[in-house]
Amino acid sequence: MDKLIIRGSGPVDGEIRISGSKNSALPILAATLLADGPMHICNMPHLNDVTTMLALLRCMGVEVTIDEKMCVEIDPSTITEFTAPYDLVKTMRASILVLGPMLSHFGVANVSFPGGCAIGSRPVDIHLRGLEAMGAKIEVDEGYIRAKVDGRLKGAHIFMDVVTVGGTENLLMAAVLADGKTVLENAAREPEIVDLANCLVAMGANIEGIGSDTLVIHGVKRLQGCTYNVMPDRIETGTYLVAAATSGGRVKLKDTCGVILESVLLKLEEAGASLNMGDDWIELNMNGNRPKSVNLRTAPYPAFPTDMQAQFTAMNAVAEGSATVVETIFENRLIQIHELNRMGANITLEGNTAIIKGVERLKGAPVMATDLRASASLVIAGMVAEGETIVDRIYHIDRGYECIEEKMQQLGANIRRMPG
Ligand code: UD1
Repeated sequence: MDKLIIRGSGPVDGEIRISGSKNSALPILAATLLADGPMHICNMPHLNDVTTMLALLRCMGVEVTIDEKMCVEIDPSTITEFTAPYDLVKTMRASILVLGPMLSHFGVANVSFPGGCAIGSRPVDIHLRGLEAMGAKIEVDEGYIRAKVDGRLKGAHIFMDVVTVGGTENLLMAAVLADGKTVLENAAREPEIVDLANCLVAMGANIEGIGSDTLVIHGVKRLQGCTYNVMPDRIETGTYLVAAATSGGRVKLKDTCGVILESVLLKLEEAGASLNMGDDWIELNMNGNRPKSVNLRTAPYPAFPTDMQAQFTAMNAVAEGSATVVETIFENRLIQIHELNRMGANITLEGNTAIIKGVERLKGAPVMATDLRASASLVIAGMVAEGETIVDRIYHIDRGYECIEEKMQQLGANIRRMPG
């Protein structure tokens, strides 16, 4: 298994380009199953999760071609299999996103129960209940969700009692080809859902309330292929901003967007960062200063994202002062604090709250990544620690960060990959 070897160095300084969003690319790839003609999806990030989703489409018989610029052409009309097998689904929870579009377009879908990051139980009950409300017959058999519908799904009024990103996406994709009107209440409002909805509209879908917590979808008979550009990755953007803030450095990020990162940018300013931004770039400068501790609490968009919690916890570990970080979305997502403590951090855990007393300096150590964003936090911690940090199990990081060691090197970090 590959490892990352990091030698703590001074403040980072440099410019990098931000990739397309993983959490937007995955549902949009699933949405291609709804089209009657070829789809062209551009600004696709080069990530293991994207490769897994493309492999999933290919194993269903869907034709996929990729050019050197990561523009993907997908022709769903060649589909022959309506099954998402365990081998692929177990590596990536987002595979569940093929359920809604496959069922809605073809009337049948068999999807293995998902795996993914070890950050809690992560059920899919809301996805299944919503599809049943739209007339699907669903059985769970030998670890597979087996769904079918006679004719087309029917529009329904669905209230989701938990705000779920994947659930909203799956039901939105099911509703666009359903018969009649669907109302999705208490819908998640993440920018990636807006991106998916905009792509569906470009395919001919009729969706009202995009960006709000109530989506009204008028089903259409068919959707055509289109060309669509995936939005920039706000979590990758936030991760590099935190790396610069933690090290007291400076970074300019290109091909990204600050507006969708408001809650994160506010916290960075509170930590002492100066921010500057244009339409498609953001610059952060700490002017050589140590960050100040910031309290935070994760919650659905537009509040502070759970996907940025681990990186801020690493920053708080070396910040001036004390802070509390409350994780309200996933119960096991503070697990990386034990690895940070092995590097000399002073963090205690009380239920879903981490209490962090900032220390002057962390010490390098061998550490193990437990999930995608936790891995990124260990890289950031290693970059500001004294001596050498070895981050093991970095397959997690390759699922969600394109060329992280190359991008960090461009910022002046001393980091290299050791093939395992
Ligand atoms: C997505 C993101 C992930 C992010 C998360 C929360 C993708 C590919 N992944 O994951 O990076 O951390 O949103 O912003 O976009 N829940 C239920 N029942 C369900 C579905 C969810 O109880 O049927 C619960 C989950 O256990 C969790 C909460 O709802 O506590 C939020 O999960 P959800 O928004 O669905 O996360 P994902 O879509 O899996």
